[in-house]
This record gives sequence, C-alpha cells and structure tokens, in this order.
Amino acid sequence: MAILSCQAYRGDFPELLNTGIIYFDNAASTLKPKHVIDAMNEFITKTYANVHRGVYNLAMESTRLYEEAHDIVSKLICAEQEEIVFTPQGTTNALQLVALLLHHNGILREGDEIIVPGDAHNSNLLPWRQIARWNKARVKVVPVDQNGIPRWDKLGELVSHRTRLIAVTHVSNVTGYESPLDEISKIAREVGAYIVVDGAQSVPHIPVCVNNLDIDFLAFSGHKMLGPTGIGVLWIRKELAYELEPPLAGGGTIKDVECKCGANNIRVDWEEPPWKFEAGTPPIIEAIGLAAAAEYLLMIGMANVAAHETYLTERMLRGLSQIDKVRIVGPSDPKMRRGIISFVVDKVHPDIIGIRLGQEGIAVRTGTHCANMMYHMLGLHEGSIRASFYLYNCPEEVDVFIEKLEKIVSE
Ligand SMILES: Cc1ncc(COP(=O)(O)O)c(C=O)c1O
Repeated sequence: MAILSCQAYRGDFPELLNTGIIYFDNAASTLKPKHVIDAMNEFITKTYANVHRGVYNLAMESTRLYEEAHDIVSKLICAEQEEIVFTPQGTTNALQLVALLLHHNGILREGDEIIVPGDAHNSNLLPWRQIARWNKARVKVVPVDQNGIPRWDKLGELVSHRTRLIAVTHVSNVTGYESPLDEISKIAREVGAYIVVDGAQSVPHIPVCVNNLDIDFLAFSGHKMLGPTGIGVLWIRKELAYELEPPLAGGGTIKDVECKCGANNIRVDWEEPPWKFEAGTPPIIEAIGLAAAAEYLLMIGMANVAAHETYLTERMLRGLSQIDKVRIVGPSDPKMRRGIISFVVDKVHPDIIGIRLGQEGIAVRTGTHCANMMYHMLGLHEGSIRASFYLYNCPEEVDVFIEKLEKIVSE
C-alpha cells in the first residue's frame, strides 16, 4: 500500500491537473503546489517591499515575513534561524559559498587535501577543484564500485593530517544511494576535517535533522522541494556561522562601516548570521515561496514522504527487473536507495528512450545528470535514463511507466 494518499495531493498541483503528465523528473526539479503559488502571489500583491531597509509598515512587514521564512525552513532540518542562509539560485550557489568561505577565511592552505566522492554532482566537485587550484591544494576522489556506490570504506586510507574538507553527496542524484554520514563524520573528525553535505536530493525527500549529524555545512535547493527557482539554502553550523567572515560583502552584511583615516583602514562591524552572509537584496519573494513549501512538507511529514517514495521505488525496481535489456544503475537492494532510479537499455541511446517516453506523456531525464565523473568511472559514457519520484506520484503511474517502457523496448 502506498503510504500517502497521492491522489489527494495531486489536486494541489495545478500543473499535474492541467497537463495530465506522469512527472518522474523530480530530481531535476519539482512541481509547485497551490499553497506555494498562492503564498507568493499574496505576498507580491499585498506586502512586497525590500527587506532590512525601510521603516514604513510594508517594509517592516516584508522584513518580518522574510525573517520568519528562515525560521520555518530551519524547522525542516531541526536547525536554528541564524544557521539558515538563503542563497541565490540553489545548491550550486550554496556550495560555491562554502568554497569561498574556506578560501576567504584562510582555512585551505597549500598542500591541503579535499576529498570528494565519485558520485558527486558537478556542483559538489567543481567548486572544490577551483579552490584547490587557487590554494595549490589537491582533490582526492573516493572511487565508486560497479554499482556507482562510493567506497566510503576506503576513506580511512584516503584521509591524512592534510585533509581539510570532506564533501559528501547525501543522496546520489543518479543511483539514489544514501551515504553513511555518521561513519564519514567519525573519520573526518579524527583528522580535524570540515564536512560539507550536498543535500539537494535528501532534504526534499527524507527526514534530515542537523542536530543529529556531526557536519558543518548542508546545501539544498528550493526548486527541488516544491519551492520556486532562484533560491537555495546553506545551513552553517552555529559556531562557524558566528566565526567566519563573509566572502561576499555588500548591503545588508554589516551593522556599520567607517573610514578610520588612511588607506586600508575601513573598519567593518559585521551583521549577525545569517544576514552577514546574504549580501545585497536577497531573493525575497522566493523566500516566501520556499517557506510555504517547507510548511507543506512539514504538514505531510518527511518520514511519510520518504516511506511513500520507498514504496514506489520497490514497485518500479520489481517492474524494471522483468524487462529484458534493462540494466539498473545503482544498488539493486531497494533498502540501499531512495526514490531515484537510473537505468540503461542495451544498445539504445538513453535520449531515444527519453523521447519515446515523452511521447507517451511521461517525463524522465536522460544523459549524465551532471555526474559525468561517475558515468565515466562506470563506463556509461552516454549516461542513463532516470525516473525520480515525489509525494504526488502514484503506484498506478509506475505501472503505466513499466507498461510503456516494455512496449518501447520491444519495438
Ligand atoms: C545531488 C545534486 N547536487 C547539486 C545539484 C545542483 O542543484 P541546483 O541546480 O539546484 O543548484 C543537483 C541538481 O540536480 C543535485 O541533484
């Protein structure tokens, strides 16, 4: 039995009602519920003004709602308001901010090492390559096995006293594999390394509670959790949030700045976190939408979302295993993965399958899913077909998908 009444939730998503599409491209971006659309519309038409500036009523109400949005989002990951930084765009920008923070605060030095997993999304790989180059540091990669699962059991051999940062993909956007954060943190802390977690595919889908985790940074995207595009979240562990100087400075980041006479003598009094990390006019409208999305997810309960996706995943894996020529990428044990299933069809380019499924009214993603490094390691240079679920997907859709795919493969 599916855990959530997906049919009931479907009614909240106008795009599903308007198009009738079977939307299995949720790892790329999710659809938006009316709750989010209405919250943004209401805010734009009744309360919008810039924040942290004006003293007129609208500006103060807009500021209150913007700050409250941090509070609501913090509840989703058991964090505190001052730890929640809203970033422009999404996870990509949030991870770039971590890279800049480490660089700007002199944490990464010549000869240091950064460890990244073989299943890293390019957004959780390229920023580390970049700051490694700036600082003459080195990036080491945790290899993946034949199923695309990072060999975290090798981490002990990879770390050294030079390891400054370990980057983790919490849930892989290709295999759905969930990395063991507790085990990784234990080893990282033994060598005093910072830990950054790419939560783009975990926070929207499973319970994530930062106060149960020994990590330093967690990044995720608004648009992958029912919210709007244009906003991401970087959670920074509280002590670090107070300690670190912002690499991106500007309006809103300071309490005061003055010239103390003479060159290089600009004295700055930084704002408290999170505001010192949100330079310039922030994504205000998007923050209102993101808070509404977080409220919607909190109302449903993340454990329920996760259980629902597990049910769909098991059903899909069973169906795929019945189709000749289909090879699943990632762990075959459904207990080792979340609601993302990638597969290849023998001797058929993934795009061909994607186009044909599209013609049947089914949305999936094909290609290398911004995880090029892993696909090369697996020898799947053309990538794969990926189906990914959310709370509004129903078991019947999985059955239609299997039926249509079987037909396409046999053609
Ligand atoms: C695991 C993972 N990390 C990072 C990203 C980048 O997210 P965004 O494009 O929202 O910045 C994605 C997007 O697909 C992802 O799946």
